[in-house]
Parts: sequence; structure tokens; C-alpha cells
Amino acid sequence: SKKPKVAVLGAAGGIGQPLALLLKGSNLVGELSLYDIVGTEGVAADLSHIDSSVKVSSATGADKLGEALYDCDLVVIPAGVPRKPGMTRDDLFNINAGIVANLCAGIAKYCPGAWVAIISNPVNSTVPIAAEVFKKAGTYDPRKLLGVTKLDVLRANTFVAEAIGKAPESVSVPVIGGHAGVTILPLLSQTTPRVEVSADKAKALTERIQDAGTEVVKAKAGKGSATLSMAYAAAKFAESCLLALQGQSVVECAYVESHLTDLPFFASQVRLGRSGVEEYLPLGSFNELETKNFGALKSELRGSIQKGVDFVHKS
Ligand code: APR
Repeated sequence: SKKPKVAVLGAAGGIGQPLALLLKGSNLVGELSLYDIVGTEGVAADLSHIDSSVKVSSATGADKLGEALYDCDLVVIPAGVPRKPGMTRDDLFNINAGIVANLCAGIAKYCPGAWVAIISNPVNSTVPIAAEVFKKAGTYDPRKLLGVTKLDVLRANTFVAEAIGKAPESVSVPVIGGHAGVTILPLLSQTTPRVEVSADKAKALTERIQDAGTEVVKAKAGKGSATLSMAYAAAKFAESCLLALQGQSVVECAYVESHLTDLPFFASQVRLGRSGVEEYLPLGSFNELETKNFGALKSELRGSIQKGVDFVHKS
């Protein structure tokens, strides 16, 4: 069968470019469709010189969105604006919410069966926004709408491995909840292989994982947020989706519509297969710290979900 067509919407951005580069180097991709409102052709021309068989196409501007999305199997969305000086969180929310809603209306129209992986922040709200847009259009398939939280997992693996003196590749930490601050809940007690850290150390590690984005924002000194590590996480996540599309069974952490808790969207380990999310892995048992943090994340995450739903219904 034909190798999949993958679109990157926001392909000329800080995340979009390295993500496109990694996908151009992936033997799971057939065609890479790059879309942005500016600068797409340059990125595509540059990548097209790489001697991989992945076919690269580009489209720029709203009137080319249909062309970019035509026949896509997977659409990855890092489009948006990062926070600039003078901008409030609400300004940022309204801009990115509008961008994601527009792009998802395009997906509903031009490739309604595609898997959709959302990176644009705030993911806790943009995924519910996408769901509402797809519901309105009558194309919603909750199994194929995924918020990308894999960077939280990579960070947890890296920081825990560092703390216990193991190789990061050998450590696996489930991270559940959402994709911002206290909504990020690493389940250190379920790390494989099992780790024994003191309660104080577990608390410090948890807080570092929750605030890891800020480490990058500070180090970049006003010039942006995580782009390279985010692109790496998203490319690995996209490859898992493509393996699943081929019929392989893959387990990933993702922020999805969920009935595991009383929150309508929740990040957890899910098993992906040909039709999308095919199984929700149980959350397992929490220790004292995790139970406390789980209690604390609920109202914040619930508010972010509602904010996304309200955005679509008031506009
Ligand atoms: N359609 C397509 N692309 C768009 C649109 C749109 N309507 N609006 C903006 N873009 C593009 C921009 O032109 C830019 O190329 O999205 C890209 C965003 O890139 P950056 O500004 O460099 O931002 P980046 O750091 O990549 O982050 C993008 O991901 O992690 C989140 O919080 C982050 O929401 C932000 C998003």
C-alpha cells in the first residue's frame, strides 16, 4: 500500500522546521506536505535536496490549505504564535485558539479521515477546541485526535535517569494529566525499571518536570520556547502514529478524549492501532504525592478544557 502523506501545518516555524527535517528523514513517510502562512517554499526547497525518498511539497496561505491537506493520513499542527512581550495569556490563547479552529475546519473539509496531532499551545484547550470544531462539522473521531504530550515523557525520562545515574534510553516514566504546569503529572512510582527515590527527591523531580518548559524559555532569554526537543518528541510521536496506521500496536502517552477519570480529556498511556486509540491503559496506583497532585490538577485542567469548548461555541 501507498506510504502515508503527512502534513505539517506551521512548517516554517521554530518547531515546524526541525519537525519537517526529522520527517523528511523518516522511512515511514511517503509524502511530506508543508503548510504555513509564510516561508513554506524556502523550507521545502531546502529539505528537497536531502537524498531521502520522502516527497516534499509546499503550500502557503489560507487559499492553499486544501491543497496541503488533500489525501493526508496524518496532520501535525505546530502552528501558532509564541508569547511576545506585552501579550497576555488571554491574547495568546485567543490567537492560537483561532488558528487551531481554522486549521481544523480545513481538516474537516479536506481530509476528514486523517489522524490529527496537536502541538499548538495551550494543548489542554486546543485539543478540546479541535474536537468541538470536528463535532460541528460532523467528522469527529475521538480515536484520531491526539494532543502531543510526549515531550513531558522525554523530560521525565531524562531527569529521572540523571537522578539515578542510568542511561535515559533505559528509563520509562508514564506522564498523565495535561500539558502545562501542575496539570503535568509524572508517575514516578510507576517508572520502569522501578526506582527508589526519597519523597523529597520525588517532589523536586516532579516540579522540575512540570516547570521544564520555563528552563528553556529562560535559557533562550526572550527568544522563544522549546522547539528542538518539541520537534524531536513530535517526530517520534508521528512515527508511532504511522506504525499504528500500518497495523502495528504502539503504546504512547497522549492527551485524548478519555473516560479514565471524570475529566473529558486526559493524557495517559494509550494503545494505538489502525483505527487510532484502541485501548486506554489503566492509570495504575498512585503514591501519596501522586494522589495529592492528581487532586490538584483536576480543577485547572477542567477549566482549560471548558475554556476551549466555550471558545468554539461563542465564536
Ligand atoms: N496557519 C499556518 N501556520 C501559521 C498560522 C496559520 N494560521 N499562523 C501562524 N502560523 C505559523 C507561523 O507563520 C510560524 O511559522 O506557525 C509558525 C509558528 O512558529 P513559531 O512562531 O516559531 O512558534 P514555535 O516556537 O514553533 O511554537 C508554535 O507550538 O509549542 C507550541 O506554544 C507553542 O503554540 C506555540 C506553537
